[in-house]
Order: sequence, then structure tokens, then C-alpha cells
Amino acid sequence: MKRVKYTIANWKMNGGKDSIKLVKLLARHIKKTGHIKSKVIICPPYTLLSDFIRLEKKMIYGAQDCHYQDKGAYTGSISAQMIKSIGCKYVIIGHSERREYQKESSNELRLKIQAAVNNNMRVIYCIGEKLSEIKNRMQVLKKQISTLNNNLDINNIIIAYEPIWAIGSGKTPKIIEINSIHKNIRTLLSKKFGVRKSNKISILYGGSVNSLNASDILKLEHVDGALVGGASLNYRDFSKIIDSYL
Ligand code: PGA
Repeated sequence: MKRVKYTIANWKMNGGKDSIKLVKLLARHIKKTGHIKSKVIICPPYTLLSDFIRLEKKMIYGAQDCHYQDKGAYTGSISAQMIKSIGCKYVIIGHSERREYQKESSNELRLKIQAAVNNNMRVIYCIGEKLSEIKNRMQVLKKQISTLNNNLDINNIIIAYEPIWAIGSGKTPKIIEINSIHKNIRTLLSKKFGVRKSNKISILYGGSVNSLNASDILKLEHVDGALVGGASLNYRDFSKIIDSYL
């Protein structure tokens, strides 16, 4: 089954006034090479999103989070509707850093996912186990997947498997392990949504993807792309990752 491949840059809380240069370089690289095998999506902080959308129209953008209400008394929050209204079609939801530091619960994540889908946005839903949970990995992932409503329009869902212990650590599971974990995630998804629907869901790997390990990871049968943190902030590294698809 041919699925859409994605290379998604999660800038986290990084980037400033000059970062448009990086976006322009990437847009030029994608245009020049002309053989890009994945959809490349940049997820910068909110403060940069509308400038980027205005200044580099050839790139696709995503936000790193959204609120589940459309508007209201939620100081400091930004709604899916607001993000959509500036022309942004993707949003990361459930990143482990938000689950940990913002204490986002499964219930809150369920509402956020629904809000994003209601606004016709594509959700990059992050799942992954902690180091202490490796032995129970599949139970942890199953529970996180159960946050997705059964009647969700899965055309708007992308899964990013990110082992928490691999994020920013330089460590990854063994390459063949990544493949089998992804295969098992697809089995979980097919139990939930049925084989036909679940086959459409792209499952990305994230956690210390870099220009050296990208080609080994991205050629795996069950991996449909990458969610890249640190290495997405550097033009050379990220453009090499984009070029790593077979
Ligand atoms: P990393 O982060 O590539 O820096 O490990 C990935 C992520 O948190 O999405």
C-alpha cells in the first residue's frame, strides 16, 4: 500500500527573525532537486507561522499545538480555528514534551484532535514510551492510540512514533526494531479502525533522526517518514534528511 510520506520539522521553541532564511533555502532545495519523495512540513513557533506563510508560499506549515475550543477565556492559548484561518493545515498534537510539561491528559488530547479535525486540519499525533516503559511498550502505545475516537476521519490523522528516551538523546531503537514497532502500531490501528482505513494512516518515526541515520530509517518498509527536532534547525542536516528517501 502506497502511503503519503512526510518529513516534518518540529522546531520546538526555536527560531527567530532570521529563520525565514532557512525556510527559503529549504524551499529552493526542494524545487531544485525536483525529486522530493515526501511532503516537507515546517512547524515553527506560533510567532513565526504567519510571517512564514506570507513570505514563502511554496512551503507547507504546521503548528506545534492547538487549543480545543475555537475561542474564549483561555489566556495564552491559540485555537485550531485560528491556526487554520492563517492558512496552516497541519498541527502536532500530543508531543511528549507537552504531555510532560503541560500535563496534557488523554482527554484533553482527544478534544484537541477533534477540534483540529473539525477545522479540517491534519493532525500529527505523537505517541511513544518512556525508558521505564520499554518492556510494556505496546500497552503504552495501545493506550495512547485509544485516545483517537473510533469515528474519527482518519484521512486527517498522521501518527508519529517517538520513543521519549530517543528524543534529543542521540539514541534510537535498533533499526530493525523501529520497523517491527511500526508494524505493530499498524496492527493496533487496524484493530481499531479496520484494515482498509488504517492502511491509509502514515506512521512516522521521530527521536534523534539525523543526516546519518535517516536513510536507514526511511527505507524501512513500515516507516512512512520522520518527525525531526534538532536536525531540522540546520539546513545541511535537514536537506540531507529530505534527500534520504529511496
Ligand atoms: P529530536 O526531536 O529529533 O531532536 O530527537 C524529535 C521530536 O521531539 O519531535
